[in-house]
Amino acid sequence: MEHIVIRRMEESDIPGAAAVEAAVLDGWSEHGIGSALASGAARCFVACGETGVAGFCACTLAAGEANIDAVSVSMCERRKGVGEALVRFALDALKQEGAAEVFLEVRSENLPARRLYEKLGFAALGVRRGFYSAPPDDAVVMRKDL
Ligand SMILES: CC(C)(COP(=O)(O)OP(=O)(O)OC[C@H]1O[C@@H](n2cnc3c(N)ncnc32)[C@H](O)[C@@H]1OP(=O)(O)O)[C@@H](O)C(=O)NCCC(=O)NCCS
Repeated sequence: MEHIVIRRMEESDIPGAAAVEAAVLDGWSEHGIGSALASGAARCFVACGETGVAGFCACTLAAGEANIDAVSVSMCERRKGVGEALVRFALDALKQEGAAEVFLEVRSENLPARRLYEKLGFAALGVRRGFYSAPPDDAVVMRKDL
């Protein structure tokens, strides 16, 4: 994870974040990322390396409750601690802004992401059957106190 800077996302990061998301299941489009970033409840973060955006994390915050809506790391930067550092940064920022708890949904078959969230202290609350399509999968709902 050398030379990676994690910070709040800016509008100029949208194409880079979209390129990272383009390689993942259910990835967000450039338009979708732009709309999310423009929303008042959005809290978006990026991990930047020498070649640009290497990681993207989109959250929402309202009434003390946060949600992690998207997390992705570019293929060539995976398994180097970028995803963990990015989500830790997001959780710290959300807590500083008054979030008391944070929720997320993850594909049941997405073991890398589930392991990441478990490592960060998220616990499974329940399962939403058939929540995802293409390919079909259940969503595991996870929660963590901040
Ligand atoms: C999930 C994702 C963001 C993890 O990013 P990453 O930078 O590779 O993760 P890190 O290197 O920071 O790993 C942190 C922890 O996550 C878990 N983890 C990450 N990749 C893993 C893998 N392939 N297998 C098992 N556990 C994994 C481990 O617990 C790891 O801790 P460890 O290194 O002590 O074992 C990345 O795999 C990704 O972008 N996936 C596609 C998008 C996605 O599925 N997002 C989640 C949507 S809910």
